[in-house]
Parts: sequence; structure tokens; C-alpha cells
Amino acid sequence: MSHHLWHSLVGKDRFTCVGLMSGTSMDGVDAALVAMTANPEHPRVEVIEFSSLPYPDSLRESLADLAGGAAVTAEDVALLSTSVAVAFAGAFFDVCRRAGQEPRAIDFVGSHGQTVAHVPPGSGSPVAGTLQIGSPAMIAALTGVTTVGDFRSGDVAIGGQGAPLAPYCDFMLRRSHSTNRVILNIGGISNLTYLPKGGSPENVIAFDAGPGNMVVDTLFRALFPARGAYDEDGVRARAGTPVREVVERMMRHPYFVASPPKSAGHREFGPPFAWALKTAADAENASSEDVLATAVALTIETIVDAMQRFLPQGGVDEVFVTGGGARNRAMFGQLEAALAPIPVEPIDALGIPAEAKEAVDFAFLARESLMGRSNVLRAVTGASHALVLGTIARGTE
Ligand SMILES: Nc1ncnc2c1ncn2[C@@H]1O[C@H](COP(=O)(O)OP(=O)(O)O)[C@@H](O)[C@H]1O
Ligand SMILES: [Mg+2]
Repeated sequence: MSHHLWHSLVGKDRFTCVGLMSGTSMDGVDAALVAMTANPEHPRVEVIEFSSLPYPDSLRESLADLAGGAAVTAEDVALLSTSVAVAFAGAFFDVCRRAGQEPRAIDFVGSHGQTVAHVPPGSGSPVAGTLQIGSPAMIAALTGVTTVGDFRSGDVAIGGQGAPLAPYCDFMLRRSHSTNRVILNIGGISNLTYLPKGGSPENVIAFDAGPGNMVVDTLFRALFPARGAYDEDGVRARAGTPVREVVERMMRHPYFVASPPKSAGHREFGPPFAWALKTAADAENASSEDVLATAVALTIETIVDAMQRFLPQGGVDEVFVTGGGARNRAMFGQLEAALAPIPVEPIDALGIPAEAKEAVDFAFLARESLMGRSNVLRAVTGASHALVLGTIARGTE
């Protein structure tokens, strides 16, 4: 750590920082302005402001092409990476402005970047890899604020999945002494963290369960063009009926039965998977609404199936839902019904807006990185040893 950076953080008992996140949905950049204490083992985190800046349509389309395996050049990737960094810096300035916070007074930024490729161990390739574009160096240069990013690659280099990373934050910030909790994120991919009451890091079980909004979004955009980027409040899906046989057929994908550690992305559940679902549903004369309802049912049933398969029987007392899927009433309603009588609530109940949760987590991962603390649960990612994830890019002095 640089002399300057060290001096600017050491001795502080409270940091003001910004977390920046864009997931596999590629909908835009979520920015959380967060106050957190420097207490190593018992940190407190408070969300001060949150904003979400949609990607410009052209950028979103280019990113989807890149993640979908379109033929692009290294030059294209370099230019897209700059556009992503500019979007991330824009989200940083936006959340500061909303909070009335001087950008230069921000202690640090934690940035996820934009995943455009994720090939973890077990994907069938001789080597693993993961690529998040929108480098911390560019974000630090554009914002003037020290930025920690590129959290996943170190974990992948030593045999880890590079994902999910949120479970470390769930353990540090959201575990309970009196209840067995599940924190369920429904982003493009769904991932869940099981936090047994009073448990230690080794007791945490977490993995990507399968598709979250990814399949629903892909089908919505194809079936209802010019109606926006997603099925607002799940209105269309709620008007349809899931086709049971299709849900069951799609659940035969080998990902669902594979034991954790495991992580997923566009490779498993991108457009080809969505088209396969649609083709199967069309063969059953499903309406467009039925197709969406089927995709929602697939998301929910794969989550419930994963909980039954991989979590201790009867061991879940409460479920908190995060991510954009928490706002899709078709999805949330089906989840509540499927898990009853286990209470299911948006994570807002714990004081974190559901949309902001992962951005908060990347701010927290950055804190750990800057404090030199190991910020990954090895039992979750499968990494061979403990390490401090994140690349630190210095801000302007
Ligand atoms: N009001 C809403 N109604 C229905 N779906 C929503 C709503 N808000 C967000 N979503 C869904 O959430 C997705 C974004 O979720 P997000 O948590 O940002 O995922 P990611 O981490 O993959 O970017 C959107 O693409 C959409 O499917
Ligand atoms: Mg998003």
C-alpha cells in the first residue's frame, strides 16, 4: 500500500466509500454510498445513498454480444472496457451528487467491473478464467479516488470459482445468533448464502443456484419488443401459466445436480438456454405470457430444489431476497408460495435496499482488501488457500 494511501486510511475509525456493481443482467451500474466502521471483526455498515444508472442501449447490446461469444477483436474489448469504466465513474459521481457528498472526500471505491466471460474450474476447459472489464485503474483515474477492483481473478488463479464473493460479506455483516438465515440474490444469475445461526465461516454454504432474471429478461425482450428491458413488476408473467413439462425438462440441465462449489453465467444460461426453453414451450402451444411464467417458474424451482438438495433439511428459518428479482412480483410471489411456511422478505427488512446489496458488498470487499484481510470464503469458492482478493489502483494525491 502506498505511503499516502496508508496515511489517508490508517487511524480512521470510519470510512465513507462507494461500491459499484453491474452483474450478469448488464442492466446498468448500481452505486451505493456507504459509511462503514474500521473495526476489523465487528464492522458496521450503513447505506447512505443508492443510485442505479442504466447502461446506454448501445453499450448494453455490445456487452451482450461480447458475453454471448460474438466475434470481436481485442481492440473491441479494450474500447468496451473504457466505456464500462466511464459508466462506472458516472455512477460514482451520480451517487455522490445525490448524497450531497464531495467526491474527493470519498475514502475508496470498491468496483466489481462488468463480467464478460466466466469460465470457472469444472467448465470443461483445461484452464479456468474470468474477465471483468472496466479496470480499477481507469475508475481511479476518472474519479480521483483509490479504487479496488478485479476481485475474482486471484481466486480463479488458485482453483477457486471466483464466485460467489458476496457470502463473505453476508457472513461478516448479516449472520444471526438466533436464526438460520438464507440470503438469496436474484440477479441475472441466482445465488444463495446459507448462514447457520452462530456458525463460523466454515459452516457457510453458498453457490450459484442457476438462472435468476437472465432467462426471463432474454425472453421478455424477444416476445415484447419495445416494452422495456424487463417485465416490470412481473405483470406479463403473472398473466401466464407455467408449462410444467417444460420446467421439468429444463431442470435436467446437469448444472442443477452438480455439487458446490459451482458458479454460472452466460455460458450456462445465456440466450441459447432461453431459446431452448421457448422452443419447448412453443411445442406445447404456450402463449408469450405462458413462456415468461415458465421461465419464472424455472428460476424459482431451481432455487427451491437447490435449497432442498444442498442445505441441511429443515435448517432454514428465514429467507431474505436481494437483487432485481426481489422486485418482480411474479418471482417473489412464487418463491413465497414454494417456501411457505418459511418467511420470505426482501432484504430491505435488514436495512439494505434489495437493489443496493451487492454494491454494498463490493465496498466492503474493498475495505478488507485495503486492510489486508482475507476477503473470501475458501469453502465457498474452492480456492486452495486464503488470500486477499482485489487489485488496488491509487487515486489522485
Ligand atoms: N420492478 C421490477 N420488476 C420486475 N423485474 C425487475 C424490476 N426491477 C428489476 N428487475 C429485474 O432485475 C434485473 C436486474 O437485477 P440485478 O440485481 O441488477 O442483476 P445483476 O446483478 O445481474 O445486474 C432486471 O434485469 C429485471 O429482470
Ligand atoms: Mg444489475
